[in-house]
Amino acid sequence: MKWEIVENYQALSAFAGRLLLDAIREHPAIILGLPTGRTPEGMYEYIVEECGREYRCFNAARTFNLDEYVGIPPSHPGSYYTYMRHHLFDHVDIRESNIHIPDGSAPDLELECRRYEMELAQAGGLDLTVLGLGRNGHIGFNEPGTPFDSRTRVVGLTESTRRANAPEFQDGHVPTRAITIGIGTILDSKRIVLFASGGEKAAIVRRFATEEPSEMLPASALRGHPDVTVVVDQKAAELLEELPGVGRP
Ligand code: GLP
Repeated sequence: MKWEIVENYQALSAFAGRLLLDAIREHPAIILGLPTGRTPEGMYEYIVEECGREYRCFNAARTFNLDEYVGIPPSHPGSYYTYMRHHLFDHVDIRESNIHIPDGSAPDLELECRRYEMELAQAGGLDLTVLGLGRNGHIGFNEPGTPFDSRTRVVGLTESTRRANAPEFQDGHVPTRAITIGIGTILDSKRIVLFASGGEKAAIVRRFATEEPSEMLPASALRGHPDVTVVVDQKAAELLEELPGVGRP
């Protein structure tokens, strides 16, 4: 596992954005696993700006989002579909048919999960997956207690996750369930980038850096993966320095 500690959110966004663009340039028909949440917003902004300036980045790329809320239509302002259109897809040259996001309003959710997992497998699996880190250590919407071999499925969201994501739902109706790709699905990705920013992530970054892998800390599954880059800014890394005898990874 490779660690990069960068100065601030802007540097984190540029680092992750550059890594993703370099990967696309190297392999234009890449299959990307893409995150949502507040952390990736700066990365997407960087990518949109660079793509406009440099080259036609997403022309052959295919994307699979990690997760989507259940019970709201794609057009809902809080959906991850809306998020992705707003932050990335509306501004780059990706082909509509190459965008994949689970449909949280599908009439048969179990079927939708199987379809999504199969579509991803048929595409050849993820080449590069970018992950945010939930405050409780979740990746995608794989909450603590998730088996490391889990696949795409419907999950219940913890109260802390619902609270953290409540600002996306101005009407106060925060979904209680989501579709997420599994930890096993994520671990099948050839390459993984995990990033975290800000003091509110410092405690979970410290746990991730120091604890033994356990299902109670979903991100710790990444320890068993051969190609993971962890990118954190100084605020998210601030508790790493305070650990006696451990220091910065
Ligand atoms: C959300 C998403 C995750 C995301 C995480 C952190 O609930 N489902 O994919 O990485 O929580 O979000 P944020 O970056 O807003 O802290």
